[in-house]
Amino acid sequence: MEGILKQPQNLAKLLQSLVDEASKLPVEGDVANYIPALAAVNPDQQGLAVATIDGQVVSAGDATVPFSIQSVSKIFGLVMAMNRVGDQLWKRVHMEPSGQPFNSIVQLEWEHGIPRNPFINAGAIVVSDILATHYSACKTALVSFVRQLAGCETIYPDHEVYLSEKLHGNRNAALAYLMKSFNNIEAEVQDVLDYYFHQCSLSMTCEQLAVSLSFLANRGVHPHSGQSICTRRDAHRINAILSTSGMYDQSGEFAFTVGLPAKSGVGGSIIAVVPNYGVIVAWSPRLNSFGNSCRAMHMITHLAERLGLSVY
Ligand code: DON
Repeated sequence: MEGILKQPQNLAKLLQSLVDEASKLPVEGDVANYIPALAAVNPDQQGLAVATIDGQVVSAGDATVPFSIQSVSKIFGLVMAMNRVGDQLWKRVHMEPSGQPFNSIVQLEWEHGIPRNPFINAGAIVVSDILATHYSACKTALVSFVRQLAGCETIYPDHEVYLSEKLHGNRNAALAYLMKSFNNIEAEVQDVLDYYFHQCSLSMTCEQLAVSLSFLANRGVHPHSGQSICTRRDAHRINAILSTSGMYDQSGEFAFTVGLPAKSGVGGSIIAVVPNYGVIVAWSPRLNSFGNSCRAMHMITHLAERLGLSVY
């Protein structure tokens, strides 16, 4: 790994140049308009942040502007559920790539209501069901967990995004009811969806998100607090599923071009884990046809290429 990673000033310059470059790219893609509140976000923003396992946070552009983390929140829910129910979880959700869009329903019928992985919507809804049945106040537990990870007490769900998704959540409701018919949802569907929308509506900045996920680059131990957030085995497993499924049916291309465990969200962010180094977060709202941010993809691809970060 190049020396630049150890020198915050040089890294800051590199991040700034990538943000500048991204901001000059031709306009490509569109904001997520199937959730109306996300369509209202200014699309001409881009942020980039790196949090290292030795405690540094380096960033550029709009890295301190909060955005809707959407599917990236599925990582937080998964860690909480893994910590609560252990390997039982893998009986109800598998660890295979789906090769389908994140909100696809077709596979779920063939595969008897067992989602392919915890990062497609169906899988995250099963994880949400586990949290809804194992926590007396799962929404509060999630927010406290994320605040503890980010070291910041001012992280909140965005109520407008939550309501917007709840009002337009027919596809997620269809997934949940289909799984309920296969007995893979225990709680009331409306309660599970309510938690799921709350989780997706969390609003965070690139810097906060990078710090909060840095335990994944550090064998499950949070570098700031020294606290064990999950076991080393579970950190490895989460990174493995991020590598194969975190970018949905663009995961193969992402592994090929970037080579890092990663997760995207339709709010326009992409997080990428660099094992034993840190976490990169890039954000820009316009998405490609896979639901992955065009400019975040550009920034992370060039950062990984420039620094030779691929784990392969
Ligand atoms: O359930 C949904 O469709 C959204 N709340 C989350 C989808 C998402 O972020 C997919 N990511 N690229």
